[in-house]
Amino acid sequence: MTQVAFIVNGKPVSVDVTGEPRLLWVIRDHLKLTGTKFGCGAGLCGACTVHIDGKAARSCQVDISQAAGKRVTTIEGLSPDSDHPLQRAWVAMQVPQCGYCQSGQIMQAAELLANNPKPSRQDIVRHMDGNLCRCGTYPHIIAAIQSVA
Ligand code: FES
Repeated sequence: MTQVAFIVNGKPVSVDVTGEPRLLWVIRDHLKLTGTKFGCGAGLCGACTVHIDGKAARSCQVDISQAAGKRVTTIEGLSPDSDHPLQRAWVAMQVPQCGYCQSGQIMQAAELLANNPKPSRQDIVRHMDGNLCRCGTYPHIIAAIQSVA
């Protein structure tokens, strides 16, 4: 058993883990923050996207030791009352269909706007390219990001 300490959504946490679980499973199983989703488990879909020290990361590919001492933000911590402009836009523009991938989509989009508050459509498409949605909500995702930008 190893103890790993890091910051999650602004709060210091310390978890006891066996072996080297991926950050995704520590977030979901130890911390019970289930907004971050398991999709492919192979770094290919983006459903598990969180921020680590402000950068979007696929938590299914991050060994927990890599998160030690870092600031991790999940969808639950993106804004205090789920009122991040992207979250409001997602609701206003009815982006989700099944909704499963949308927390990852929002975290990926939040990284874009944090670094580039006025992205072009091409910037948005390029940045969101690796986040998959089986319902095909891509036009709504792009429109919602543009509405915030
Ligand atoms: Fe992590 Fe698909 S579950 S990228």
